[in-house]
Amino acid sequence: MDRLQAVGVNAPQIEYWNGAAGEKWAKGAAGQDAMLEPLGVAAMDACDIQPANAVLDVGCGSGGATLEIARRVGAGGRVLGVDISTPMLDVARARLDALGGDSGGEGTFENKDVATYPFDAGIFDNVFSRFGVMFFIDPVAAFTNIRTALKSGGRLAFVCWQALDKNPRMEIPVNIALKYVPAPPSKGPEAPGPMAFADPARVRRILSGAGFDDIHLESLEPMLQLGPDIPGAVQKLMGSGQAGRLISPAPDDVKARIADDLASAIAEYKTSEGVKMRGAVWIVTATTP
Ligand SMILES: C[S@@+](CC[C@H](N)C(=O)[O-])C[C@H]1O[C@@H](n2cnc3c(N)ncnc32)[C@H](O)[C@@H]1O
Repeated sequence: MDRLQAVGVNAPQIEYWNGAAGEKWAKGAAGQDAMLEPLGVAAMDACDIQPANAVLDVGCGSGGATLEIARRVGAGGRVLGVDISTPMLDVARARLDALGGDSGGEGTFENKDVATYPFDAGIFDNVFSRFGVMFFIDPVAAFTNIRTALKSGGRLAFVCWQALDKNPRMEIPVNIALKYVPAPPSKGPEAPGPMAFADPARVRRILSGAGFDDIHLESLEPMLQLGPDIPGAVQKLMGSGQAGRLISPAPDDVKARIADDLASAIAEYKTSEGVKMRGAVWIVTATTP
């Protein structure tokens, strides 16, 4: 499939999610799903998705959650997954094809920026996202656009990360990486990125600024499955989020030293069921007037 042109305010994110990071996420889709699935399910439950509903999945990536939504809405329902990452959408479409029309409700994927997607007004009952909403340059404008696609009385629910210091899965590799690679220019806590929605006051401000009502944040502190063993977990932690952004340009010898340090630092999290660490997310819900 043709890559989305990197234009508009979210152009840096379009570049990022179509580059090495997007390829890595696409290749690691099964592992990401294993870790994130329970969090997506918590947000789906909070979204109150009913049979025959029409649902938008924002930043659907490789489609793991989108296909579960298709199963939930069943025949007569539909789900649209929108994402800017061609490599991840290729995986999503291949997964849909593999179901051979047996995904439940109708599923479709669009390679577009949700911030500017020309949605028809009031066509969705629910808007859902699993970690796909923290990357907008102008989140109020993006959520305003998304809100127009919801019916009156429609429901939004998404899951996003709490602060770095409540997520050692991300904090430990970032701190180790910074021993070896230069710190990036400080962008501030509101810059687009995995932790951009960590502050509940900011999330409330964005959603009310975009015209949502009944905004609630519920804290969830789940155990996260990082991989079957230490080498698998190290590979995963070095390849995603802020650590991935810091480490990917480093030379191979530096990557090897970071990997050694990280393996020692996470040894204590090995269990008989793989490497597990507690994390912290917000389940955010809101409705349209
Ligand atoms: C952390 S990944 C999560 C992917 C997927 N929801 C999952 O849980 O596996 C964030 C996703 O948001 C997408 N994304 C970021 N900004 C976007 C935008 N403006 N419009 C659509 N998708 C966007 C990225 O391409 C990426 O697939």
